[in-house]
Amino acid sequence: MGTSILGISAFYHDSAAALVIDGEIVAAAQEERFTRKKHDPSFPTLASAYCLREAGLSASELDYVVFYEKPLRKFERLLETYLAFAPQGFKSFAMAIPVWLKEKTHLPKLIRQNLGRAVKAPIIFTDHHESHAASAFFPSPFAEAAILTLDGVGEWSTTTCGVGRGSRIELTKEIRFPHSLGLLYSAATYYCGFKVNSGEYKLMGLAPYGRPIYKDLILKHVIDLRADGSFWLDMRYFNYCHGLTMTNGRFNELCGGPPRDPESDLQQRHMDLAASIQSVTEDAMLAIGREVHRETGMKNLVMAGGVALNCVANGRLLREGPFEDIWIQPAAGDAGGALGAALFAWYQLLDSPRTSVGIDRQKGSCLGPRFEPSGICSFLDSVGANYRRAASEAELVADVADLLEREKIVGWFHGRMEFGPRALGARSIIGDPRSPKMQATMNLKIKFRESFRPFAPIVLRDEAHQWFGIDPRHESPYMLLVAPVLEDHRLPVTREQREIMRNDPDLRNQHSPVVDSGGDARGLQRATADGR
Ligand SMILES: [Fe+2]
Repeated sequence: MGTSILGISAFYHDSAAALVIDGEIVAAAQEERFTRKKHDPSFPTLASAYCLREAGLSASELDYVVFYEKPLRKFERLLETYLAFAPQGFKSFAMAIPVWLKEKTHLPKLIRQNLGRAVKAPIIFTDHHESHAASAFFPSPFAEAAILTLDGVGEWSTTTCGVGRGSRIELTKEIRFPHSLGLLYSAATYYCGFKVNSGEYKLMGLAPYGRPIYKDLILKHVIDLRADGSFWLDMRYFNYCHGLTMTNGRFNELCGGPPRDPESDLQQRHMDLAASIQSVTEDAMLAIGREVHRETGMKNLVMAGGVALNCVANGRLLREGPFEDIWIQPAAGDAGGALGAALFAWYQLLDSPRTSVGIDRQKGSCLGPRFEPSGICSFLDSVGANYRRAASEAELVADVADLLEREKIVGWFHGRMEFGPRALGARSIIGDPRSPKMQATMNLKIKFRESFRPFAPIVLRDEAHQWFGIDPRHESPYMLLVAPVLEDHRLPVTREQREIMRNDPDLRNQHSPVVDSGGDARGLQRATADGR
């Protein structure tokens, strides 16, 4: 039996477990998929049990358990931030501290309690951004690459860069809390009435409907973005260091009013702010990318951290930036930290050779549980479901193609579940993009789905460049690179569609449809599968 390493991320949001055996990613899953609590932050007991089951291992057979961040360094950051702002912020500090003392400073004990007392393996703690960096570089196909991690905050870092070579990564530069692109994006997410740490993708989806009219104001007052990609946030506009909200009165004044109540209608100014923050984020990522390229001289780039889920910004970085190719960890948020922590231990700490470069070792990110047909049938029988079992895979595919042709919407559940937030064709909702009413129909079928949220197109790899502004050499299997629809495939917005948008509860306060270079609203309307 090889060396088995269980990586764990927990207690912030998107808890997950990942199992690596002799460097091979055997299994990875988020706890939310088992508990059915979105972004579940609790200890990944069920995800860990699944990973062990997949490998046929018991907890006592694990060689190492690796936690994705260093709790004491994070505790130090909380404490220092409190002291810097004291006596302001006592309320948020007083709320955070009991949780820290109870859970996070006693982690080794807690991990053993949750995994079972039979666990003899040593427990290792890696640095938060090292875990992100490892999750980006080690599964990538590159022998060497520049590394960029961008998120809200880890222990202290919010942005790091460095180089990965063979089985080593080295992070050489960082930007520290409270200066954070992720927290700037989260602040605008909060301001627009979406949930922080989960609604950021909604802000990105809303951006194409706005105009970046606040961009200059934000660059002048809120973020000092320099040509070398370094940035500094003016904390007088934010509350997140010492308060229970992200933004404050000064931010509201700049953006023309108070934050949106989540229950109220979206106004044009929310769409404009989304467009503005998106544009600032893209500029920052391009500037950082150019600097990292200049410093490292690397042809390729790998990325992780929550901000690396911004597929519109990633697409611009690939098209307009200096790198020949970019690989992004599909579980770029903190869930992927579990995988990164395990890979960091295998390569960097155990000094294991990294062979077979040139191959993407993420396995399509299909790293979660699978269900056998017999198990599916017995479940369907147990609930008295009306179903028909296809005689073969060929018959199933033909039936589904036929349903799509007839403008039906299909829930596609096939093979191992995806690791990461995107539905990549294992747990997807699919429809025919040729139908003009497909977007509206699909939104109606998916409960509580806002109409501005984008769909992702599936096209044959060899034909992607005929439809989208993407270089035929680049693949985009993980829904992490948005490319514009080619000009000659774009359709004008019809009067009927304009009417639908005007009556749409999410968009009725919008002046007129806008297409901005970052995200292509019309292109997105023509696309297909549910991008979540
Ligand atoms: Fe993170």
